[in-house]
Amino acid sequence: MFHTKEERVKITTHRTMWRRGTPLPRRLVGIKCLVLLLLSTMGVTRAHDGDESALEAFKERISDHSRVLSSWNRSISYCAWEGVTCSQRHRSRVVALDLNSQGLAGTISPAVGNLTFLRTLNLSLNPLYGKIPPSIGSLHRLRYLGLQGNMLTGAIPSNISHCSSLRKMVIADNKGLQGSIPSEIGNMQSLRLVHLYNNSLTGTIPSSLGNLSQVSILSLAANHLQGSIPEGIGNIPSLEFLQLAINNLSGLFPLSLYNQSSLHRFYVADNNLHGRLPADLGRGLPNMQQFAMGDNQFTGVVPPSLTNLSRLQVFDAPNNGFSGVVPSELGRLQYLRWFCLDVNKFEANNEREWQFLISLTNCSRLRLMSIEQNRFSGQLPTSVSNLSTNIQELSILANNISGTIPSDIGNFIGLEVLHLGHNLLTGIIPDSIGKLTQLKELHLGYNNLSGFIPSSIGNLTGLSKFDASFNSLEGPIPSSIGKLTKLSQLDLSRNHLNGTIPSEIMQLSSISIYLALSYNLLKGPLPSEVGKLVNLGQLLLSGNQLSGKIPATIGGCVVLETLLMDGNSFQGNIPPSLKNIKGLTVLNLTNNKLNGSIPGDLSNITSLEELYLAHNDLSGPIPELLGI
Ligand SMILES: *[C@@H]1O[C@H](CO)[C@@H](O)[C@H](O)[C@H]1NC(C)=O
Ligand SMILES: *[C@@H]1O[C@H](CO)[C@@H](O)[C@H](O)[C@H]1NC(C)=O
Ligand SMILES: *[C@@H]1O[C@H](CO)[C@@H](O)[C@H](O)[C@H]1NC(C)=O
Ligand SMILES: *[C@@H]1O[C@H](CO)[C@@H](O)[C@H](O)[C@H]1NC(C)=O
Ligand SMILES: *[C@@H]1O[C@H](CO)[C@@H](O)[C@H](O)[C@H]1NC(C)=O
Ligand SMILES: *[C@@H]1O[C@H](CO)[C@@H](O)[C@H](O)[C@H]1NC(C)=O
Ligand SMILES: *[C@@H]1O[C@H](CO)[C@@H](O)[C@H](O)[C@H]1NC(C)=O
Ligand SMILES: *[C@@H]1O[C@H](CO)[C@@H](O)[C@H](O)[C@H]1NC(C)=O
Ligand SMILES: *[C@@H]1O[C@H](CO)[C@@H](O)[C@H](O)[C@H]1NC(C)=O
Ligand SMILES: *[C@@H]1O[C@H](CO)[C@@H](O)[C@H](O)[C@H]1NC(C)=O
Ligand SMILES: *[C@@H]1O[C@H](CO)[C@@H](O)[C@H](O)[C@H]1NC(C)=O
Ligand SMILES: *[C@@H]1O[C@H](CO)[C@@H](O)[C@H](O)[C@H]1NC(C)=O
Repeated sequence: MFHTKEERVKITTHRTMWRRGTPLPRRLVGIKCLVLLLLSTMGVTRAHDGDESALEAFKERISDHSRVLSSWNRSISYCAWEGVTCSQRHRSRVVALDLNSQGLAGTISPAVGNLTFLRTLNLSLNPLYGKIPPSIGSLHRLRYLGLQGNMLTGAIPSNISHCSSLRKMVIADNKGLQGSIPSEIGNMQSLRLVHLYNNSLTGTIPSSLGNLSQVSILSLAANHLQGSIPEGIGNIPSLEFLQLAINNLSGLFPLSLYNQSSLHRFYVADNNLHGRLPADLGRGLPNMQQFAMGDNQFTGVVPPSLTNLSRLQVFDAPNNGFSGVVPSELGRLQYLRWFCLDVNKFEANNEREWQFLISLTNCSRLRLMSIEQNRFSGQLPTSVSNLSTNIQELSILANNISGTIPSDIGNFIGLEVLHLGHNLLTGIIPDSIGKLTQLKELHLGYNNLSGFIPSSIGNLTGLSKFDASFNSLEGPIPSSIGKLTKLSQLDLSRNHLNGTIPSEIMQLSSISIYLALSYNLLKGPLPSEVGKLVNLGQLLLSGNQLSGKIPATIGGCVVLETLLMDGNSFQGNIPPSLKNIKGLTVLNLTNNKLNGSIPGDLSNITSLEELYLAHNDLSGPIPELLGI
């Protein structure tokens, strides 16, 4: 089965939000410091040598591989040192230390706590290790703290709560950072932005965070947090972005969050939360743009009032226990671009209940529409082909949907993923499918499609996965498939395909996962070009009418693990070249017309676990070392 999980993780861990606090342009800093330097050489004494010694103490703990600190020497004023900015009023006091992305290796000296005029401390994206020094709590003027993307360990010191001016706390992407979130953080009334994502924090979300009355961005995603979401978080009047995805949060989802009128983006995917969406969902969240609650245990219906969230762009609710019919007026959501209901118990049994899909044709920005693994049945509305031509991913996989593939499916010129498999679709694969030149995945398997595979399929030159297995397709395998040079897996098994295997397919060295043509009506030889499938893992040809000798070139498929050729009419010897396939694990040649002796070399394939040779005309001894 194909997955959209990666995209979903991308969406759930989405963290665009802050990029406002840009550092001073370096050239400006340089000029200002030059002035300072002149002043100091003119006899203006340094008022605060303390900052200099604190900086020197900082440097001491950084390994001198970091060339950036070579400018940190007494031949120039410390105010001119790389990354250091001094105050304009208190000229000897350091107000900013910005050494982000400078390859600083070492620990953070407790002496940073002596730089008590600091407003900005940015040490993000360095390989700093060790603990966050509690002395950081002495930085009462600090407004920005950036420690993202280091290798810090230990816990976040509770002392940090003394940084009472702090507006932006960015302590993210330090997988070694453990312990719980200090509840004292709830006292930091200046906080606007709290980024604590992608650490290894444990414990519960302190209820005191509900006291952060000015916070607009709160991200605690990708930690190991447990317990429930404190009700108080839903009462922060300024909260715009709440990111709690990928934790182990449980309990009833707090209703107060549905009343959070400032909320724009809301991610709680990948937890153990439960609850139902309130009937008046659309009333309390007028600004909601992105709503992602996948991989939880939410139940109940998606209320029709969802369509009142007029700014909604993303609705992502896969892997829950939602049920019922989908709101019929989704078309009101003019900004909708991502709509995913995968793996729930939603249903549609008649035209009225399918209305949502017709309505979605009004959403011109729609890029993803996915309803995989639900209980949708009845006819797929033909107007599905009127969905936005911007659509990139369309999936109805694994439902009980009948009807036909619309003949104008080719309208979706931007489509990259089309999953229609595991349904009850009938009719033909429309020729226009060849217009979907952006397509990467085409899953039509496990339906009841009939007719020929259109040769226009060869136009889908970006296709990497193609599955049309378990249908009633007939006629030849189009040789144009040989043009699909990005193909990594091809499954046409269990159809009524006839004719010979086009040798063009054997030129596709891109095929790595499997080439499955089993249980069709294929005749003629296995093309000797088969040896060009040098990356192929599984070659499945069982149950056809293939004949002739097994080409010796098959030994060129050097990474083959499974080779099933049973139930054909292959003749002649078992080619000794099979011994070149060192990783062969399963070989099934049962039910053919092979003769001669079993090559002793087969025993050189040490990985062989299953070998089936029955119902042939083979003679001679079973080679030693082989099996039993
Ligand atoms: C801090 O460093 C990060 C990482 O390079 C950067 O994105 C951010 O803009 C910096 N912020 C400030 C306020 O210096
Ligand atoms: C930091 O300040 C403390 C107390 O004022 C002082 O004892 C210590 O020497 C200072 N450390 C450095 C490295 O300047
Ligand atoms: C001291 O810093 C200056 C300015 O960056 C630099 O030119 C000089 O080479 C440094 N001196 C030493 C000894 O590293
Ligand atoms: C904690 O912060 C306070 C300043 O608020 C400071 O006086 C104290 O020394 C800090 N504690 C440690 C262990 O550094
Ligand atoms: C999480 O942080 C680690 C470093 O601690 C980093 O390697 C990884 O890429 C981060 N994960 C994400 C999803 O950003
Ligand atoms: C929130 O702040 C109020 C008043 O400052 C205080 O009484 C209360 O205990 C705080 N709540 C939490 C959960 O810390
Ligand atoms: C998640 O939390 C539950 C209790 O709510 C606990 O039993 C379980 O072990 C936790 N799982 C992980 C992976 O921490
Ligand atoms: C939501 O807000 C409305 C009006 O402000 C209020 O009547 C209602 O009790 C709130 N509901 C919750 C669950 O907080
Ligand atoms: C698409 O495929 C058909 C049939 O193979 C062919 O006639 C047509 O020229 C192709 N169109 C493009 C744009 O390649
Ligand atoms: C293949 O099947 C098609 C349709 O089922 C039939 O018209 C055609 O004659 C068959 N071709 C061969 C070579 O058997
Ligand atoms: C091998 O082929 C025989 C005959 O077609 C079949 O019954 C058996 O299941 C096959 N075994 C494997 C592992 O493919
Ligand atoms: C097969 O293996 C045997 C013993 O491991 C070795 O003597 C023989 O040379 C091998 N044959 C080939 C063709 O590699």
